[in-house]
Amino acid sequence: MRSKYTPLTDEQALAALDRCVRQVRCNLPLYTNRCQNHTSVDGIYPACDNVQWTCGFWPGEIWLAYERTGEERLREAGLTLVDSFYDRIVRKVEVDHHDMGFLYSPSCVAAWRLTGSERAKEAALLAADQLLTRFQPNGEFLQAWGPMGAAENRRFIIDCLLNIPLLYWAGRETGNPKYADIAGRHAKTCLAHSFRPDGSTYHTFFMNADGAPSHGETCQGYRDDSFWARGQAWGVYGSILSFRYTRDPAYLTTFRKALGFYLTRLPDDRVPYWDMIFSDGSGEPRDSSAAAVVACGLLEARRWLSEREAARCESLAREMLGSLAQGYAVPEIVPGTGLLLHGTYSKKSPYNTCTPEGVDECTGWGDYFYLEALTRLTRDWYPYW
Ligand code: GLY
Repeated sequence: MRSKYTPLTDEQALAALDRCVRQVRCNLPLYTNRCQNHTSVDGIYPACDNVQWTCGFWPGEIWLAYERTGEERLREAGLTLVDSFYDRIVRKVEVDHHDMGFLYSPSCVAAWRLTGSERAKEAALLAADQLLTRFQPNGEFLQAWGPMGAAENRRFIIDCLLNIPLLYWAGRETGNPKYADIAGRHAKTCLAHSFRPDGSTYHTFFMNADGAPSHGETCQGYRDDSFWARGQAWGVYGSILSFRYTRDPAYLTTFRKALGFYLTRLPDDRVPYWDMIFSDGSGEPRDSSAAAVVACGLLEARRWLSEREAARCESLAREMLGSLAQGYAVPEIVPGTGLLLHGTYSKKSPYNTCTPEGVDECTGWGDYFYLEALTRLTRDWYPYW
């Protein structure tokens, strides 16, 4: 971590991207026939079965590396993982939750786009159908976790804004309006309740059985009324993606407010602490993955804003990515390590309900979104989301 950094130039972005590609190549033998654990342990990812909500990020890195290089071995590895994702959704292994987009957009939607694999397309469509089964008509939201129906499970979470692009994709592929309809209803509910009036966000939000809003609660943030950094990042990127697919100006307004709040809570080096209630001197760990997610949102936003606003978004993204590349990127290519240090998955606090894991480590999504942001900065890129 360095408090002095310079905004990333195009040349530096290409160099950082190529460095990431070298690390992806180095990791291929470890995680082509197995998946990569959600977070590293002492800087190295254990291999795991395809059972976690995070398993899509590693294949997403492979596809981004393939887009950069066109190398056949990357294509083959990505397609081997498609077989695993196909098997997972057909056999319904650990898919009773809402994270179908995190799983199937960077793995199978990407594979379908880049190779035309029918198996990848079928897997992603099955995953979209699975996500539809999470819809609660009373309250109009996609239930995040747990079996449907029980009162303690009647909640949605801000992260889901990154799952619903899978539904927009399925709608375009099939011509069936039901996918975009459910995505839009969920996003509207999320906009109404997950975002507080000051632009900060609740991680999770409960609804009553009659569909009336109940209350916000954190799971992975510090406290119910604090500002979990990654949740804020999902809100920033998710709102601009919702604008991309609906062109509803309400999402642009939300993007601006969520970004505005995020910027007011950043430390000097533009990489947030894991909860933005903390600042310099707190001794708390960062969450570098949140910075990578926000950089993607800023680079997506360039397409939808005025020239002046777009230029500001790009310059903010260059600052964040400069700080990541110069102070957080893994310094040495070693088998099994990731791309970005200092991510935080779930840190236990006296007030939250998470299982502590992956504190101050590489995270699969931090690596993926860092690579996506570098890709977005260096070429015109069509999102997997
Ligand atoms: N989607 C869960 C997380 O961001 O940790």
